[in-house]
Amino acid sequence: MPSSLHVRRSGPLRGSCRVPGDKSISHRALLFGALCDGVVEAKGLGQGGDNLSTAAALRALGVDVQLEAGQARIAGVGFAGLREAAEALDCGNSGTTIRLLLGLLAGRSFETEMRGDASLTRRPMGRVAAPLRQMGATIEGRSDPGRPGDVYPPLRVRGGALVGIAHQLQVASAQLKSALILAALQARGRTVLREPARSRDHTERMLGFLGAPITTEAGGEIVVDPTGWNGRLKATALVIPGDLSSATFLIVAALVVPGSDVVIENVGLNPTRAGALDVLRAMGADLTIEPVAEAMGEPVGRVRARASKLRGTQVAGELALRAIDEIPALAVAAASADGQTTFADLAELRIKESDRIAALARELGRAGVRIEERPDGFTVEGLAGRPPSGGAVVPEHDHRIAMAGAILGLTGADETTVPTVDIGTSFPTFAETLGALGASIDVD
Ligand code: S3P
Repeated sequence: MPSSLHVRRSGPLRGSCRVPGDKSISHRALLFGALCDGVVEAKGLGQGGDNLSTAAALRALGVDVQLEAGQARIAGVGFAGLREAAEALDCGNSGTTIRLLLGLLAGRSFETEMRGDASLTRRPMGRVAAPLRQMGATIEGRSDPGRPGDVYPPLRVRGGALVGIAHQLQVASAQLKSALILAALQARGRTVLREPARSRDHTERMLGFLGAPITTEAGGEIVVDPTGWNGRLKATALVIPGDLSSATFLIVAALVVPGSDVVIENVGLNPTRAGALDVLRAMGADLTIEPVAEAMGEPVGRVRARASKLRGTQVAGELALRAIDEIPALAVAAASADGQTTFADLAELRIKESDRIAALARELGRAGVRIEERPDGFTVEGLAGRPPSGGAVVPEHDHRIAMAGAILGLTGADETTVPTVDIGTSFPTFAETLGALGASIDVD
């Protein structure tokens, strides 16, 4: 029997905790570590299902990756040291794994097949495949008669001699940008990338830290120019901050459960990722954010969240982009707030691990929250402190829908059950961490 979480209305959450290593940064630590010119130790690496997919794919490409609790040892082989895999790479549920690998393998002169689970198989890859083909790679994928003009996993890539391009990204996506940067590092000549808005910049920061020929111009253009570069990333110890996306579930839990006071240590605070904190502050959240240090060019700090009377707000434009992964958690904050919260400019949410707009409409609706769905967003009518009802959450292979459902259950009138299987994608210690803070949550 697959296990479930049982969540009930909880008393105050209190105490101090940490969250697993940042999922986005951990993928990059594994991938870029493999490209280094020697052994790389990565401390604090996230080891949720998605990061394990990246580690397994690298092993299949001939890289020795050893994982222990919170620690990884990656024996870097450089671009030229990657070897053709004996079978298809299983990218599981992870869009970051398949898209970044596509960019990396576009420059390798062997063939690779990549596939994933039911959720990943529905996610569009044409945004990455098209510019990589323009650079010289051969990429084939599954087409979908219901959604013509795009390409879906399983994918097959045969890399080759790439040439740099000047490219305007059609969508502000860090996965797309990172795939193109990885291809550009292997190409002849300069690549210049322009984004419609600035997506998270972990790739630029970490590659810069490892000595790659990449710069970001004042106007936001990213320039990769490997001319004259020896193609080597310098093996350096990596320290991965805690995942702000995971932390946001705990922060929202603390804000909505009366009497709570929670501190989360060692959280990544990269401004291209930290829009959720700005949204919550605009909702009247009592947050104290203390930057403490920098790791590999990434700001890291402590966040304290105390129960707060939240009010509705608007989430759109660049703020929505900087909070893209936190919308499920923010929807729970909106559900408990006084007044309406409008989420807009979020069409990308429909092609995440699930259609998150439809999933949030379904899950909040089930709990008795009024929510109006639109093509690129939704509006939530807050319950102003009234309890939502409980019930069974249906995450549909989406870890963040599962965790949002659980957090909503902390103020529920009756019990909420959530299948645990999907949560391990990013935050395997979710239930244990909430339980230690005092939440009424158990697993069976
Ligand atoms: C990620 C980029 C974002 C984000 C995803 C992780 C990354 O996706 O939603 O969870 O690590 O680069 P897009 O690139 O599709 O916007």
